[in-house]
Amino acid sequence: MINLILFGPPGSGKGTQSTALVEHYGLKHISTGEILRKEIQEETALGQQAKALMDKGQLVPDEIIVAMIEEIVAHHKTVKGFIFDGFPRTVAQAEALDALLSRNGQHVSQLLELVVPDNLLVERLLLRKQQEGRADDNLETIQHRLNVYHTQTAPIAAYYKNQNLSTSIDGVGTVGEVTARLFDVVDTL
Ligand code: AP5
Repeated sequence: MINLILFGPPGSGKGTQSTALVEHYGLKHISTGEILRKEIQEETALGQQAKALMDKGQLVPDEIIVAMIEEIVAHHKTVKGFIFDGFPRTVAQAEALDALLSRNGQHVSQLLELVVPDNLLVERLLLRKQQEGRADDNLETIQHRLNVYHTQTAPIAAYYKNQNLSTSIDGVGTVGEVTARLFDVVDTL
């Protein structure tokens, strides 16, 4: 089983590259952002709680996210592995993921960090705002999401680097160029 964390700031290409990785390696994609947006669309109680936080660019509480992940992993025991996209986002979530996988005799295979400068991230997200109108892609919220990433999420890369399980990948270039860089790393695992 291969368990990948596709990691990086908002707009670095996690969702885009997950599609290519899923097609190529046949892994199960878990995007916490997508799951939360579906909850919002369906106007569930969780969706209402998440919307207030997501619209401000804040993180949804760890216990909610970890419970979501536990449920999905429990329902996909026979898959070839997972691509975690947008999760973990705090060191507490990373520790919970390690504990969950370990209970199933599994572990994180590699954290793949997409590195893209902030000015290009803002440019990509503002363009997506025009194309798709995502609620959290306005300039103020983007800047808050980037702050949250740098303060609360970025330390996870060091957490996995300490276990020799982290690789940085240049996320600048065409989608195809970045995909090729990711495949080069995953093929060695
Ligand atoms: P989430 O949905 O995870 O959003 P995000 O991390 O902010 O990531 P994005 O979806 O904005 O970007 P991406 O890296 O996937 O890039 P993409 O491929 O889309 O989370 C949203 C919110 O949910 C969070 O703020 C938080 O509130 C909550 N949340 C989610 N998970 C949570 C968790 N674990 N804990 C707590 N809270 C959580 O690309 C972006 C754009 O760039 C697209 O338009 C794309 O077409 C374009 N693009 C991609 N690659 C390239 C390229 N190489 N060149 C040019 N353009 C490109």
